Amino acid sequence: MKNPPKIAEATGKLGVLLVGMGAVSTTTIAGVLAVRRGLAPPIGALTQMGTIRLGKRTEGRSPLIKDFVPLAPLDSVVFGAWDIFEENAYEAARTAGVLEADLLDQIRPELEVIEPMPAVFDRRYVKRLDGPNVKKGKTKKDLADQVIDDMRRFKKENHCDRLVMVWCGSTEVFLTESPAHATVSAFEKALEANDDSIPSSMIYAYAAIKEGLPYANAAPNLSADVPALMELAAHSGSPLAGKDLKTGQTLIKTIIAPGLKARLLGVEGWYSTNILGNRDGEVLDDPESFKTKEESKKSVLDYILQPNLYPELYKDLCHVVRINYYPPRGDNKEGWDNIDIFGWLNYKMQLKVNFLCRDSILAAPIVLDLALFLDLARRAGMDGIQEWLSFYFKSPMHARGLYPEHDLFIQSMKLKNTLRYLRGEDLITHLGLEYYD
Ligand SMILES: NC(=O)c1ccc[n+]([C@@H]2O[C@H](COP(=O)([O-])OP(=O)(O)OC[C@H]3O[C@@H](n4cnc5c(N)ncnc54)[C@H](O)[C@@H]3O)[C@@H](O)[C@H]2O)c1
Repeated sequence: MKNPPKIAEATGKLGVLLVGMGAVSTTTIAGVLAVRRGLAPPIGALTQMGTIRLGKRTEGRSPLIKDFVPLAPLDSVVFGAWDIFEENAYEAARTAGVLEADLLDQIRPELEVIEPMPAVFDRRYVKRLDGPNVKKGKTKKDLADQVIDDMRRFKKENHCDRLVMVWCGSTEVFLTESPAHATVSAFEKALEANDDSIPSSMIYAYAAIKEGLPYANAAPNLSADVPALMELAAHSGSPLAGKDLKTGQTLIKTIIAPGLKARLLGVEGWYSTNILGNRDGEVLDDPESFKTKEESKKSVLDYILQPNLYPELYKDLCHVVRINYYPPRGDNKEGWDNIDIFGWLNYKMQLKVNFLCRDSILAAPIVLDLALFLDLARRAGMDGIQEWLSFYFKSPMHARGLYPEHDLFIQSMKLKNTLRYLRGEDLITHLGLEYYD
């Protein structure tokens, strides 16, 4: 392949700004610091451990992804965050209770200097939380300007060359697109008018995109996924990715479902339930926040199984998703799936999955990959929705009129082919006839 896009070098420091400094964020930050010190391996992060095959299978070329594309090295990453609580990253990591005190104590001084900036927060959008570290402003526009000031100050004080923002805040209540989200000018008027259809996450997203920062959304709320912010991204050059990290039960769902469909096995029912005891579980105990999550979790099977193409196999699928807040479990979620399937001559079978997972351990490498890949996209001049990063999401952002790709294996191919494209390497089709000529 010829004419790969020009990619600017990853020189200087990369500031990774996380909105919300809870379980996912602190596990990401502490994890990167621990990896940097050689205390633990970066398992699950493609940017650190992944390889990519180039050319034919016979060529034996499979470099590490980080040696193939110019990613920001871990040593160049500086973290910043906003939260409604005042705890520094060490204290917040202890509160989250994901990583052991032993590990955290070894990186304590580096964690303690990360103090959250005051948040843009309104209880109307996250009903189960309240905290003292919150910005004041007459209008939502004032609040967005304050976030922009925070970003500029952070960049200057930490001598950063570039910034990336990832929303790792709580799941907000369910909102659908409204006229205020239609264009940049309608959105900016709505910010001035304190319109209810602009939740806190959109204020951060607006601020980031206005400044040309790459923006990713780890949660299912709309955030940047509205026409106004996409229009803004096209002007400012911001790459966008979202929504809702694909971890835990949905990750397993998008691994199993494509396999069942590939073998044309019917699915009559898929019952998924979870118990979860962290703050995220508490927020999701509120029916309005759960609704946002439920929508995100439920769409996956419809898109993978394509009942319109295979009505006999999937049209009547009964898909139920439950999350129960159960404090004794902390961040160690347990998920159960009961899958009622049917095969040859309609004979019924069942599949049971019991996943004892650690949510934030699965999420942290994704946050790191997103930050580094989005920074790469920015330097390669790719703006707007980055479909190649749908690999990481339960509800991948997608162009209007196009259905999102949920199959993990297709998503993985898309991601790697995008990296090959960025370096002018041949895309891999897996046809393979050339080996038998
Ligand atoms: N852990 C996973 O595997 C996973 C997977 C998919 C999505 N998510 C989503 O990622 C998000 C973070 O998850 P978590 O487990 O870290 O939750 P958490 O509750 O531990 O952390 C969220 C943090 O965000 C803060 N916050 C809320 N609103 C804020 C605002 N407006 N500004 C600044 N800070 C704000 C909260 O105070 C809290 O500290 C949640 O929305 C969750 O649904 C997590």
